[in-house]
Amino acid sequence: MPAATDREIAAAVTLLRAGELVAFPTETVYGLGADAANPAAVAKIFAAKGRPADHPLIVHLADSMALDAWARDVPQAARQLAAAFWPGPLTLILKRQPQVLAAVTGGQDTVGLRVPNHPVALALLRAFSAAQGVAAGLAAPSANRYGRISPTRASHVRAELGAQLQLVLDGGDCAVGIESTIVDFSAGKPRLLRPGAITADDIACVLGTTPQAESHALAETGNAVPRVAGSDKAHYAPLTPLRLVAGEQLQHAIDAALAAGQRVAVLARSNAAKITPHLHWHVAAPDAAAYAHDLYARLRELDARDDDLILVEMLPMTGEWLAVADRLQRAACGSGPDDET
Ligand code: TXA
Ligand code: MG
Repeated sequence: MPAATDREIAAAVTLLRAGELVAFPTETVYGLGADAANPAAVAKIFAAKGRPADHPLIVHLADSMALDAWARDVPQAARQLAAAFWPGPLTLILKRQPQVLAAVTGGQDTVGLRVPNHPVALALLRAFSAAQGVAAGLAAPSANRYGRISPTRASHVRAELGAQLQLVLDGGDCAVGIESTIVDFSAGKPRLLRPGAITADDIACVLGTTPQAESHALAETGNAVPRVAGSDKAHYAPLTPLRLVAGEQLQHAIDAALAAGQRVAVLARSNAAKITPHLHWHVAAPDAAAYAHDLYARLRELDARDDDLILVEMLPMTGEWLAVADRLQRAACGSGPDDET
């Protein structure tokens, strides 16, 4: 695996302390990092991504000891999850300390915190804290243009944001491949805002109760401010139209598209029944972890082909498949050429 050198980590810290952006690998996806305590640096994240200003950012910490510098009234259950899963693909939404920048929280009274589990991310966060103070944190959304596919390789970041970045730390392929699970503790009982590799069952094993599901949590907020940008219906989206089709309807959908003269790419867990011209078939990984690991790189590859349509076999919206099924639904929703510009 390509690993950022000590010299690159030192260069990254210098850039971050000067208020610049640095892209870095985590175990989930690559992040676009800035000093979370520097408003001008945080503003550069929104400009680079083209992201609306009211979408809050996750603050990445070197370890859980920094948690209380960013959050207040931390419930015991949140500490239990941090102890069980950090470093790891879990973000906790907690009440914020007063000094946390409004640009980071999207003006909300809460802050998202996570300790990532990647050697390069941890080396960067530790070096940044050593230079800047123990509680220093990096605000970092996924390092993609707003609404587009999250990057799981350094080359994805360079292709999409390279012109705006002085440094992309390379940590190889992201092991998990989809964004962290988000659990919101700001209203007392834990609520699952974004499914991820850490499932509701994993959380229930630690807490003894299952967190309330995303759909309920979102319905309850009842206001226009998006609590979770990834919860926008359109997200993670390729420019080629992407349609989700139930396994038993897949052949019919392929035949119809081919008959209409379209070039079709298929992502399915089964093999192609027949190979025909204008049909490109990719066999997806059989288990959920491997599917997640490959998902975004595969969507980028399929999007880069000269096809008119991407057909993806629908996945179960349950258990360990929920997180990838959720990402695919949002990808389908936002796919197709941009309307504006
Ligand atoms: O795995 C991940 O979480 C990756 C890596 C880089 O750590 N980061 C990531 O960031 O996915 P982003 O910005 O693409 O998605 C973070 C999500 C957003 O949907 C944001 O709305 C939500 O976390 N979020 C952050 N702070 C929040 C808060 N205070 N309340 C509710 N949602 C929050
Ligand atoms: Mg994102």
